[in-house]
Amino acid sequence: MATQTKRTAYTTRALTTDTWGDFAALVEANNGVWGGCWCMGFHPEGFTGGTAEANRANKLALVRRGEVHQVLVYDGDECVGWCQYGTPVDLPNIQNHKAYDKDLETLPDWRIGCIFTGKGHRRAGVARAAVVGALGAIAEAGGGLVEAYPEQVEDRKPQQGAYFHTGPESLFEELGFERDRRIAKWRWVMRRRVEPTA
Ligand SMILES: CC(C)(COP(=O)(O)OP(=O)(O)OC[C@H]1O[C@@H](n2cnc3c(N)ncnc32)[C@H](O)[C@@H]1OP(=O)(O)O)[C@@H](O)C(=O)NCCC(=O)NCCS
Repeated sequence: MATQTKRTAYTTRALTTDTWGDFAALVEANNGVWGGCWCMGFHPEGFTGGTAEANRANKLALVRRGEVHQVLVYDGDECVGWCQYGTPVDLPNIQNHKAYDKDLETLPDWRIGCIFTGKGHRRAGVARAAVVGALGAIAEAGGGLVEAYPEQVEDRKPQQGAYFHTGPESLFEELGFERDRRIAKWRWVMRRRVEPTA
């Protein structure tokens, strides 16, 4: 899928064994992301591997088993960012779980997990393209209720991008998500229904 943003046109591909090398190159160019998380935090294994190498191996094993839903964003041939998504079974480890569970009425069909844009590519619409790609993939997979857990941006001093690993609220607002409930001082559950692709 090609997404036209205000600065550049990106393409998207799913993270599979075919695109693993592109994803791995992006993670390695960014010091493993958070020093070696390899985007494992939301997955059932979490960070039980304990090292960057183990996180990498766990992620690759999940990809090989077809248990990862992750949209990669490309600028030409270079993978520059991603958006992870999945069912609550695929992605059980959301932060602030206690606060989340307290007022939970219905689980969503899908969750948006981690979002990442490589250094040097930020504020050029990569995350937007990644989330739009994930919502498109969700529509193709039958749609349903989608939740995200972004950080509030407004009424707060400017934050470094690293705080926004679940994305900035403004991005989800722009894409039709609405606040459901607060689960931390600056973090919200936001929801949106996605219709299935006809
Ligand atoms: C948060 C992050 C994903 C944003 O990616 P990005 O590609 O720069 O975002 P985009 O350019 O698509 O921005 C879309 C919108 O999000 C909002 N936004 C993005 N970055 C923001 C920031 N640092 N502060 C406030 N709002 C921001 C804006 O509303 C922006 O729209 P605008 O540019 O028209 O104002 C990026 O900063 C990042 O990867 N940070 C590190 C996150 C991380 O560590 N993830 C680990 C995952 S395992």
